[in-house]
Amino acid sequence: MRVAVLTSGGDAPGMNAAIRAVVRTGVEKGWEMFGVRQGYAGLIAGNFRPMGARDAGEIMQRGGTILGSARCPEFQTDEGRLKALRALNQDGIDALVVIGGNGSQSGAEKLSGLGFKVVGVASTIDNDLVGSDITIGVDTALNIALEAIDRLKVTASSHQRALLVEVMGRNCGYLALMSGIAGGAEAISIPEVETDPEEIAREIRSAYQRGKPHAIVVVAEGARYNAEGLANFFKQNSGRLGFAVRTTVIGYVQRGGAPTYADRMLATRLGAAAVEELAAGRHGVLVGMCKGELSTTPLSEVVAGKKPLDTALLRLAGILAR
Ligand code: ADP
Ligand code: F6P
Repeated sequence: MRVAVLTSGGDAPGMNAAIRAVVRTGVEKGWEMFGVRQGYAGLIAGNFRPMGARDAGEIMQRGGTILGSARCPEFQTDEGRLKALRALNQDGIDALVVIGGNGSQSGAEKLSGLGFKVVGVASTIDNDLVGSDITIGVDTALNIALEAIDRLKVTASSHQRALLVEVMGRNCGYLALMSGIAGGAEAISIPEVETDPEEIAREIRSAYQRGKPHAIVVVAEGARYNAEGLANFFKQNSGRLGFAVRTTVIGYVQRGGAPTYADRMLATRLGAAAVEELAAGRHGVLVGMCKGELSTTPLSEVVAGKKPLDTALLRLAGILAR
């Protein structure tokens, strides 16, 4: 077998550990392994490079992706995908492993629909992918967000301020909800639950009246009011909050950095499992982790569904922020 692997969409800490696992599990089976540069853009360009076991060395501990990633609008067209299919056939590639998030798995599903053997590996910091309770990169991104929240709490307390902290996640509130709970936020705003900014203003005011030295509000970038929107809203009548307001957008810092133990292990297990799927003659699926076990889900189900978020945890966050 000649098998290629690519990383696509937003980079996620742990992608390199997944590449390593795919390459070395394939090598162990006696297969020829190839890395594709820059995601689907590299696929269209036929940018394959052979990868042996040594080429996958010294990468597990590194953030980002050694193969590079891309947002590639051309792959969203029939023409682009046919070009990619031609390139794969020209190089005699039999199968492809796609390490990426929602959009990347949509591309994988379309390529699979053209009759090519594809297996997806669940990888995005957003944790918005049906077919895996947790995706590669989430644990690292959460820990980075938490470190930032802890630091912001220190300076907010020194100055008696409210800090609006914006985290990533696209349209999904998972990162905000979990980092808000684990960071002890006074309020959390996520896209899944419509939150009136007046309600957040009341939470901040209440924290002030209860004698707290700070109020931390964790805001998902996809919420109706992001951090800047909230800050603008509060400007209208800032005296009522008690605290002065400051804003921090954590942004891309969440995506960089070395993967945690949890992300290295998850990526290692998912990468190896993707190759085992191909070895067993199965494809057109996403490999993920559900209820602590390796699982596979047809790509058609992955792209059709929307992952639910346990919004009941918002209530818990409210209780604990007393
Ligand atoms: P992620 O995989 O992290 O969600 P994107 O949404 O940017 O990141 O998707 C990565 C790439 O996957 C896109 O740049 C595009 O090349 C491809 N892609 C996304 N959506 C589709 C789609 N509906 N059909 C085909 N390819 C897609
Ligand atoms: O999907 C990962 C992610 O970091 C999202 O959280 C964020 O909305 C998006 O990518 C940012 O995209 P880009 O890297 O193209 O600016």
